[in-house]
Amino acid sequence: MISIVGNGAIGNLLALKCSQKQLPYQLIVRSKAPDSIVCHEQDHVTTLAPSFVSTNALGYTSVDTHSKISPQTVDTHSGCDLLILPLKSYQIVDALKQLKPVISDKVSIVLLHNGMGPHESIQSILPDNPTIIATTSYGAYKPKIDQLNVTGIGRTQAGWLNNDNTNAKAEHIFDILLPPCQWHNNITQILWQKLAVNAVINPLTAMYDIPNGDLLRAEFAEHITTLCEEIARVMNALGMATTKAHLIERCMQVASLTATNFSSMCQDIRLGRRTEIDDINGYVVKQAKRLKIATPFSQHLYENIKKKEAL
Ligand code: PAF
Repeated sequence: MISIVGNGAIGNLLALKCSQKQLPYQLIVRSKAPDSIVCHEQDHVTTLAPSFVSTNALGYTSVDTHSKISPQTVDTHSGCDLLILPLKSYQIVDALKQLKPVISDKVSIVLLHNGMGPHESIQSILPDNPTIIATTSYGAYKPKIDQLNVTGIGRTQAGWLNNDNTNAKAEHIFDILLPPCQWHNNITQILWQKLAVNAVINPLTAMYDIPNGDLLRAEFAEHITTLCEEIARVMNALGMATTKAHLIERCMQVASLTATNFSSMCQDIRLGRRTEIDDINGYVVKQAKRLKIATPFSQHLYENIKKKEAL
């Protein structure tokens, strides 16, 4: 059984993929969920009728009448069960703590979120579960609670948190869900590269309220260079080989490939929602402080977004 936590766009995209590949799945949600989700993917429209299990039911406090599957299905001890958490980074720790009582240590966990930090917490919350850390560039958004628009086929990069604790069946299932999936022995370096892109594109687009492609304009070159210089210094101090020029190139590539998109942080600020800044620029600044490296512009952006969040 594949259990997908949350009812967000990537969660619904995974549900669609499970349904297309005829893999059994359920969505684990906090609040009342729609009966069906209409998915638009290129010219196809598919209506999903997923099984929803409320987190209340999982916590055994009260059973949501909408739940069709018993909580025990999260833990079938088959050795290839997957629990995927395509959530906001700040929701991960609470979700894991809430689910911990019903997850056997045979269940493989997949963390799929922007930013870094939660992967450090999972080691203390669920130390024995094989854990995949992944990042994907698949695009999807939800214009309505019961509608999913798939905007682009992406690629996925994944790796095991602990290479001595893996599960080949889980790896195979994850490969099928978000292909092409490239596996890495050292996922930390990949996560830092993604973090660098997020730490540049997200706060700048949120601060100036612009689509990603606007960052290609000359007026942003100095901001981008300063940020990439700070991040490259932290990465180098952590033993990762990268350069300011390489990070700039990667950021420009992503800004160009996603030119018309508004970044997740820009959208969060527009909608008055909490952002993932703590696990993006906040994480860079935290690591820099520990390593005694000055990152004044990252700190400035962090504070600026925190102020915007509080408005
Ligand atoms: O958070 C996002 O919006 C995306 O990860 C990225 C890469 C910045 C593109 O919009």
